[in-house]
Amino acid sequence: MSKESKAYKNLPKKVYIRTFGCQMNEHDSARLKDLLVERGHVICDSPEFADTVIFNTCSVRKHAEDRVYGKVGTLAKLKLKKPGLMIGIIGCMAEAQRDVIFRKLPIVDFLCGPADLDKVPDIIDKVHDGAGHIMYLGGYKSKIIPEFSKDRRDRGRAYVKIMEGCDNFCSYCIVPYVRGRERSRPSKDILEEIRKLVKSGVKEITLLGQNVNSYGKGLKEKINFVGLLIKIDNLAHLSGEPAGSPDRWACGVKINFLTSHPKDASQELFRAMRDLKSISKDLHLPIQSGSDKMLKRMNRRYTVAKYKKLVKSFRGIVKNGSVTSDVIVGFPGEVEIDFNDTVNVIKELRFNSAYIFKYSPRPLTKASKFKDDVSLQEKERRHKVLLNIQKEISSNKR
Ligand code: 5AD
Ligand code: SF4
Repeated sequence: MSKESKAYKNLPKKVYIRTFGCQMNEHDSARLKDLLVERGHVICDSPEFADTVIFNTCSVRKHAEDRVYGKVGTLAKLKLKKPGLMIGIIGCMAEAQRDVIFRKLPIVDFLCGPADLDKVPDIIDKVHDGAGHIMYLGGYKSKIIPEFSKDRRDRGRAYVKIMEGCDNFCSYCIVPYVRGRERSRPSKDILEEIRKLVKSGVKEITLLGQNVNSYGKGLKEKINFVGLLIKIDNLAHLSGEPAGSPDRWACGVKINFLTSHPKDASQELFRAMRDLKSISKDLHLPIQSGSDKMLKRMNRRYTVAKYKKLVKSFRGIVKNGSVTSDVIVGFPGEVEIDFNDTVNVIKELRFNSAYIFKYSPRPLTKASKFKDDVSLQEKERRHKVLLNIQKEISSNKR
């Protein structure tokens, strides 16, 4: 190592992190910031002041990747002014675009996949030592979720990862290919993390997983998602109240969770949401389409009738609960009849809110082999129609 790089290594380095995408990415960025601070870095809020700029990225839709390509491109001028500026792309897009990023954006110094983020501080050191382009990818193949950042700095609200990856292979979705197969964290690690967060003053915790309802699969202990919720709810001593007391969590801690798959959501879960005091009564249950033909092509493994029955049952059991959803318009083969079926379901089920997405073909997925036969114009029309319907329903629900 040269004298200069040794001297540089001892200086605090300023890191700017920009996050795109879902709550899982928000959570990963927050933990990475804590880890970098533990290693002596300083977090700054603008690329201009930074020594290292990191983009934590999303690949769920092409638009999200295009934005990152655009944003990184705008840093070329800054890198000319500051040749030592280091640029990293981390998260799902680093995996999905691994073969093209360095070619498209030679100013990028390193790539790191979502399951390798604990390596980022070492990668930064290596690049400073002149290692050239670095890639840390493929960590999602491991069965373990790496626990990095021991010292969490959450205030008020926090995310806790309970599982990661997905085995569902919905035909449009890139997640199983960039975040890997499902793996759950042992419940004792989750409970310990929650205990610490609550002790440090956190009042609202969101349990994260691509498919929380299949929590527990592959673990040595015999536990399912409802079992985990019961254990969390029973951390009664945190509020100073004995277990079983109606006032437990009197300290006001609320536990949310995301995301549930309709094929795995059960009445057992709904009863737990009704009975466990700390557990939120908000259910995010993506329907994706109101047409059985589309659901089959999407490989969702439920029918519209089953979905409706599920929502009815939830509303019957959890009296003051809310249901929110995701919908994709313009999936390959979606003709007017299919779209109308979706419109009708949205009108009938009256979700509290719903995210409406235009289908975006993703590499590696099964649907990328289908003909993307709904024009962009038509996708935009369908998107607007549904947005307007849902907007009215949501505002009447308030
Ligand atoms: N195109 C459009 N929307 C997608 N989603 C996932 N993959 C795609 C895609 N290829 C949506 C789904 C999912 C949400 C997180 O993103 O609705 O529930
Ligand atoms: Fe993607 Fe489907 Fe898994 Fe959700 S359940 S992450 S949409 S493959």
